[in-house]
Amino acid sequence: MVKRSLGIWGIAAALVGVFAIAPAVATVNEKTPSEQTLRSLALRHGLYLGTAVDLSAAKKTDEPRYSQIIASQFSTITAENVMKWDALEPERGKYTWAAADAFMSLAADNHQLVRGHVLVWHNQLPCWLTEGVATGTITRDELREILKKHITTVVKRYRGRIWQWDVVNEAVSDSRDDADGVIRYKQFWYQHLGEEYIADAFRWARAADPKALLFYNDYNIEAFGDGSAKDKTQFVHTMVKNLRVKGVPIDGIGSQGHLSTRYGNYDAFQIAETLDRFASLGVATAITEADVRSPITEGVKQGLSDDVNAMVHAQAANYSALLRGCLGSRKCLSFTLWGFDDKHHWTTITDLGRGRGAESMAGIYDAGYRPKQAFTAMKADLAFSGAPYVQNRLPQKPMP
Ligand code: G3I
Repeated sequence: MVKRSLGIWGIAAALVGVFAIAPAVATVNEKTPSEQTLRSLALRHGLYLGTAVDLSAAKKTDEPRYSQIIASQFSTITAENVMKWDALEPERGKYTWAAADAFMSLAADNHQLVRGHVLVWHNQLPCWLTEGVATGTITRDELREILKKHITTVVKRYRGRIWQWDVVNEAVSDSRDDADGVIRYKQFWYQHLGEEYIADAFRWARAADPKALLFYNDYNIEAFGDGSAKDKTQFVHTMVKNLRVKGVPIDGIGSQGHLSTRYGNYDAFQIAETLDRFASLGVATAITEADVRSPITEGVKQGLSDDVNAMVHAQAANYSALLRGCLGSRKCLSFTLWGFDDKHHWTTITDLGRGRGAESMAGIYDAGYRPKQAFTAMKADLAFSGAPYVQNRLPQKPMP
């Protein structure tokens, strides 16, 4: 892969032009890194640096650091849960917009772009929907209409205010899902509507908002494998290629970036190359849910410095690889963390962080909001990296 050098300090503004609602990018900034935030350093490269937001934590007045860090360090935010279907329509036909609206206001107050998450996913669906399908009271035709109505209603409500929408999330299997390891379409929507629901979803989203960038979002697609039927990244590449050929308005591929130190170290060039191969299809890319968790071993529980330090170091290396991978690929528009602190992180709170084999410590801040080595590594990457790790961003226009 040929990498071109560039001067990063003055030209970001001219090169960004990412999207009509994108704010102006700082052109000259002579502050030292210690005076900078992740947000301002990333914008020098035309990159939007983001986090998922736990809205209930952001609303707590007795814990102001959570909101202060969101406002100061990030230029784009994603709702961790409040824009999911079960949150928006817990009872059929009765929408509960308050939390999602509050999240949108938070973004506006902080001058942040919004990644909308998520329109079509098999998790966090309302019970009335899953039970209705299971009992047969919702037929296939009705289900398709329900999905169309959901996408249309939600996208129209926030039309012109969402930068990137995760339209379809995690629609294909993982190599660990089936005994033969072969990658396939899977889950609720495929089982009940067939693969056409994917194209439908993007078309309905486009009809509801002609300007939002429409993304397919998935995990374990940070690197290509051997190109066989067991290669999930290849499957997603082929799927998006076929959708674009058919004229389906898909503008981006989101690579979630959920890593664990137990799987070893990732490589920035490999990630950049993957993003470049996606971009060659004509789409933008983004790292959408970056985090790096670690196994909570006995040594970690006891606070043994050898164990803790090794994981903290490996975590920083992997965050850095993800970030440099994105910086090194010209169509990678944003880099979003799936939570930034250990206290509120989903890996700490959900079953992943509990019981035997628990994994956690995934944030770039600890539970007391002290920046970890991963934070410093990311900051150093943004402040000091040049070519070949940093490329100028290329804008993406929504496909009509
Ligand atoms: O809202 C209920 C609350 O009423 C109840 O008291 C509590 C008891 O456990 O549960 C609460 O719901 C939890 C919800 O988060 C809100 O906190 C669910 O149990 C919990 O399962 C849910 O976890 C979310 C998970 O998606 C669900 O699959 C995580 O916060 C969220 O970070 C995670 O995000 C996903 C992305 O959307 C897609 N990619 C993977 C990523 C990580 O799993």
